[in-house]
Amino acid sequence: MSERSVDRWIEVATLDDLWEGDFLDVEVDGETVLLVHLPGGAIRAYQGICPHQEIALADGDFDFESGILTCSAHRWQFELATGQGVNPADCWLYEYPVKVEDDKIYIGWVEGERHYNRCAG
Ligand code: FES
Repeated sequence: MSERSVDRWIEVATLDDLWEGDFLDVEVDGETVLLVHLPGGAIRAYQGICPHQEIALADGDFDFESGILTCSAHRWQFELATGQGVNPADCWLYEYPVKVEDDKIYIGWVEGERHYNRCAG
């Protein structure tokens, strides 16, 4: 992800809460945020509800081998490493900046930016 100007960093979990190959959703300021710890160690944070019809993505299927997340409702699929839609391909998940310090995971909050993509479909 390119550098973005972050207004504040919010602690959302620790590495003990989110082991490698695991995922978790958390609430931040009334928004559901999906945390993903990819094999290899990278951590991503995405909008926690599906861009289609607002179903929790944490209820979906995570296939870390293929790197694909499949929504439980209508099977839309997203690339876990990037949030890019696979099916449909013209859709993507909003991605929060992430940093890890002293085993604590923080997401970057960008004021005035919409933290949620909604896609037609
Ligand atoms: S709500 Fe996720 S695919 Fe429809």
